[in-house]
Amino acid sequence: MKYGYFDDENREYVITQPDTPLPWINYLGCQAYFGIISNTAGGYSFYRDARLRRLTRYRYNNVPCDLGGRYIYLRDDETGEFWSPSWQPTRHDLKNYTCHHGLGYTIIGSRYSGIEARTNYFVPLGEDLEIWRFTVTNRRKTRPSLSIFSSIEFCLWDAQDDATNFQRNFSIGEVEIEGGVIYHKTEYRERRNHFAFFACSRELAGFDTQREAFVGAYRGWDKPAAVERGRLSNSVAHGWAPMGAHHVKLDLGPDETQELIFLLGYHENPAEQKFDPPASQTLNKKTVKPIIAKYLNGAHVATAFENLRQYWDGLLGICQVETPDVHTNRMVNIWNAYQCMATFNMSRSASFYESGIGRGLGFRDSNQDLLGFVHMVPARARERLLDLAATQLPTGGAYHQYQPLTKRGNNDVGSNFNDDPHWLILGAAAYLKETGDWGILDEPIPYDNVLGSEQPLYEHFQHSFQYTLDRLGPHGLPLIGRADWNDCLNLNCFSDTPGESFQTTTNKDGRAAESVFIAALFVLAARELAEIAQRRGRKDEAQRYLAEAAKMEDTVRKHGWDGEWFLRAYDDFGRKVGSQECAEGKIFIETQGFCVLAGIGLDDGRAQRAMESVSKYLATDHGIILQQPAYSKYYLELGEISSYPPGYKENAGIFCHNNPWVMIAETRIGNGDRAHDYYARINPSAREPISELHRCEPYVYAQMIAGRDAPTHGEAKNSWLTGTAAWNYCTITQWILGIRPFYEGLEIRPVVPKSWRGFKATRRFRGVTYHITVERAGPGNQVALRVNGVPSEGAVVPAPAEGQREVTVDVTLT
Ligand code: BGC
Ligand code: NOJ
Repeated sequence: MKYGYFDDENREYVITQPDTPLPWINYLGCQAYFGIISNTAGGYSFYRDARLRRLTRYRYNNVPCDLGGRYIYLRDDETGEFWSPSWQPTRHDLKNYTCHHGLGYTIIGSRYSGIEARTNYFVPLGEDLEIWRFTVTNRRKTRPSLSIFSSIEFCLWDAQDDATNFQRNFSIGEVEIEGGVIYHKTEYRERRNHFAFFACSRELAGFDTQREAFVGAYRGWDKPAAVERGRLSNSVAHGWAPMGAHHVKLDLGPDETQELIFLLGYHENPAEQKFDPPASQTLNKKTVKPIIAKYLNGAHVATAFENLRQYWDGLLGICQVETPDVHTNRMVNIWNAYQCMATFNMSRSASFYESGIGRGLGFRDSNQDLLGFVHMVPARARERLLDLAATQLPTGGAYHQYQPLTKRGNNDVGSNFNDDPHWLILGAAAYLKETGDWGILDEPIPYDNVLGSEQPLYEHFQHSFQYTLDRLGPHGLPLIGRADWNDCLNLNCFSDTPGESFQTTTNKDGRAAESVFIAALFVLAARELAEIAQRRGRKDEAQRYLAEAAKMEDTVRKHGWDGEWFLRAYDDFGRKVGSQECAEGKIFIETQGFCVLAGIGLDDGRAQRAMESVSKYLATDHGIILQQPAYSKYYLELGEISSYPPGYKENAGIFCHNNPWVMIAETRIGNGDRAHDYYARINPSAREPISELHRCEPYVYAQMIAGRDAPTHGEAKNSWLTGTAAWNYCTITQWILGIRPFYEGLEIRPVVPKSWRGFKATRRFRGVTYHITVERAGPGNQVALRVNGVPSEGAVVPAPAEGQREVTVDVTLT
């Protein structure tokens, strides 16, 4: 069953039923001001940091779910009836309900009692505000008197404190109201120099800023007392719960449409110009007023929306494909790229499943997110890489997370996740291949943000490399530390205390447990590093990287192979994890995918055998399971992985993030059929017809789909913020379709299904547009290129002559 449909032409997913299995969300904003918005207008907004600069309130995991949002109420003043055109919070039986989730905007509309209303929510490029462009049309034959009420609830900035520290917070709320604009200025009197504003383009019949005055004690957002009464009380919040509500009266003739604009925004003043007059406690509104005036103007709003559409046309235009598979096209051309922007911006901070207070930007996560984003806005990828590198520690290790607002490493989580440092090399290599910006390697970057410790970025990679060599275990494999990619394989944790963090508790000295996964990651990173060193003229260093990679590969062959597949790890007792010898957890996906994608086992048949084992033991119709058999009980020596009931999350869930590693591995052994088959199994668009089982949005990947051991096999969870986005994007574009940025040019090496007659693609790369046509002349994966009609050696299209902006590439597959 479906709850809507894809409108590929307009790049929208259109939801036609408000009660989707879960709130289906979208993101507003793509630079500094952000919001999440559900298909019924739930969600919240923040500036840069979902924890430290939260603008509006949202109550996670509430009953009913998804409450707190950007709500508008319509009221028929003759009958007193009122409803929400976005369904929530009043949940009336609306006609023609639609929610169009588009790229950076959401439009929710409906008809009720002869009144059509729709709201277009979006954030203009380069601005720290969101616009609600509300249009209302009277389809009655009569002339009703209508009232419109807006509402939002302000958060007192730090979302964690806001949800817990009530003894203080009930006394600090402050607002100002001037010219119909509601300004939220809690804590502005002391150390903050920022505030929020909520404005309306029409003359007001009233306003409220105290939640209780609007909602009424013991009532909910579905039946606010003030809306029921049809009149706001011009309340001024002193303490308690500051909110914003405007009341506008409308007089609409038959078939007449009117437009109203609401603005919600964030503004900062220079510390020395906070007040106006300076000796007062009144907000200085000099610089914010022109911004408000500009966007209360319909013409500017229309232009801003058009600019947003064009911005996305430009970004998506960088890579467009036309394959025989509609789901591939839709994901590559629209939604997967869009999701990569969201993961780049949010890391794992704010979604319907990530509360925005838990995590900052992950070192491992952000470096991987970059892989799917770097072609869109390379300058931002560059900045991110340098920010990440600046949180690296002098040991070569890394803070596991940092806060986006301060850009400082997070001490609560700390470091010692021994895979972390290598992701920096992979992120940087992707950046270099996309841009050819070798200058980045010379950027002086500190360690742990300590002034004076700066070294060229390139030196940071040596530290990453050395970090692993300094931490080898009894078999010569890398020590795992707190965890590797799998945050839940905690081999040094040994926690028997409820509530203790599996990620930060360490009860063992960490000198025994080893990770085969990190070994594979090391091999891949060392080879990437050698490529970089080579091109920088550092041949000796390159040799050393290659030699260490070869040595590690050898160690994996000796101690990391279980006979039919790659082992996963050794625990603190030196016992195998992910082996035939284990009672449960005999085979893991991570090492099968990552060893082969790193090139291990390609020359001795192990790659093929590992892939056969994946197909035999791990693959299901809903995707590839993380490990089998699932752990049926808690194992002290394995940690969080065995804390999950079987079939969920890391305990034998289908962890979509590492499915693409297997797809890449299949392309490396030339198996395009299987690679694309695995791709299709987790492709959200392909899963749209089973939305009632899948439950999450059909337009973005979810982190996890319940595995076969779970009673809800096939049910997705934790949509949007997952490394799945970047990895699937890279897998389909670079490995299956085979269009791969490389140092010397664009490499084209498709490994597509045998049944495909060919495909077309357009790729902008370093200022040149490549028009690529692939045709199958035989069943294999051999490529022959013709560049601008002339046969060309190898699979890399050489950079064209200066000034040439368009290149045609014809590829024959035999
Ligand atoms: C989750 C992991 C996640 C980790 C991060 C765990 O509870 O299962 O997927 O990486 O938390 O803190
Ligand atoms: C989600 C985390 O964000 C990521 O860093 C980790 O690799 C996976 N979970 C697997 O545990």
